[in-house]
Amino acid sequence: TDTEKGTYPHFMLKEIDEQPLALRRIIQEYQDEHDHLKLDQNIRETMKVCDRIYIIAAGTSYHAGLVGKQFLEKMAGIPAEVHVASEFSYNMPLLSDNPLFVFISQSGETADSRSVLVKIKEMGHPALTITNVAGSTLSREADYTLHLHAGPEIAVASTKAYTAQIAVLAILAVDTARAKGLELDFDPMRELGITANAMEVLTDQKEAIDELVRDNLGTTRNAFFIGRSTDYFVCLEAALKLKEISYIQAEGFAGGELKHGTIALIEEGTPVIALATQETVNYSIRSNVSEVVARGANDMIFSMKGLEQDTDAFVLPEVHELLTPLVSVVPMQLLAYYAALHRGCDVDKPRNLAKSVTVE
Ligand code: G6P
Repeated sequence: TDTEKGTYPHFMLKEIDEQPLALRRIIQEYQDEHDHLKLDQNIRETMKVCDRIYIIAAGTSYHAGLVGKQFLEKMAGIPAEVHVASEFSYNMPLLSDNPLFVFISQSGETADSRSVLVKIKEMGHPALTITNVAGSTLSREADYTLHLHAGPEIAVASTKAYTAQIAVLAILAVDTARAKGLELDFDPMRELGITANAMEVLTDQKEAIDELVRDNLGTTRNAFFIGRSTDYFVCLEAALKLKEISYIQAEGFAGGELKHGTIALIEEGTPVIALATQETVNYSIRSNVSEVVARGANDMIFSMKGLEQDTDAFVLPEVHELLTPLVSVVPMQLLAYYAALHRGCDVDKPRNLAKSVTVE
């Protein structure tokens, strides 16, 4: 069942493997019998009239929000900004005339997010919560809820909730685009279906990832993830995953920022993991890889099929370029998993961390 490990050594590994399934469940849940998107009419109307979206989240959910912002802007044409919940009230942005607040939270219980919700409700603004837990605090206190349908997530490090959040945000963006009569050359359910299959191909490649970890991350003190555009957002999540469970000091960097300081960190043998899933940045991310390799870095390139070069460590099955985070994150989760496993860390219950943080 959902709350038992079964034959898996850890919940995290089980939950990584459940991602294609969760994605297929989302496709089912958000589609009616005529293959139209199924969404609460009130959410649709609210999305149509809002002039700016403020996404509020913490941790992994914040990283999903960064990807979601792109969907809302590129597909639905709504300006969107993403805020770390705990920082929001210190530097509250000037709000637009018709703001909509979107809370992304696996648990629906994160206190930092809740305090923003309380505040913006006092101000009279509408709120939509995207959560994995029906009946959670953030769901009850917001005007609207979208469910992730990912099934219970037990491991402290979030995996399937992240990909479910991204999928639901994509559906929300497409639904809004359609409601607004915008021209979109993107069939979400078809593309998500292709993506679910691609994820399955990746979850079947555990041995290859395990080998990469043993060869490159075995005893390292630190590791860096570099990417541009959408890949940068996934690098932030990849680094968080590795930090959380393996305690390797890891950071995600925007490729273009390397030269502005962070390249100083590269030493002989420093692992640098590069994501290359976007055609528009394939050339520039590869020149970043050459720069770090010239300073002794130990590079591992994860590229999308069609963009790969001979030296790439790993080729990801091709999906729509808006949905690449859903596939590129899978080997990143597995990297973190095997790194933690080989270091003898408690994968499902890392030190000092809690699954949901109900204090500010
Ligand atoms: C905790 C967890 C993280 C999670 C974050 C936000 O710090 O350890 O894995 O991303 O809270 O949780 P939420 O339930 O709001 O998505």
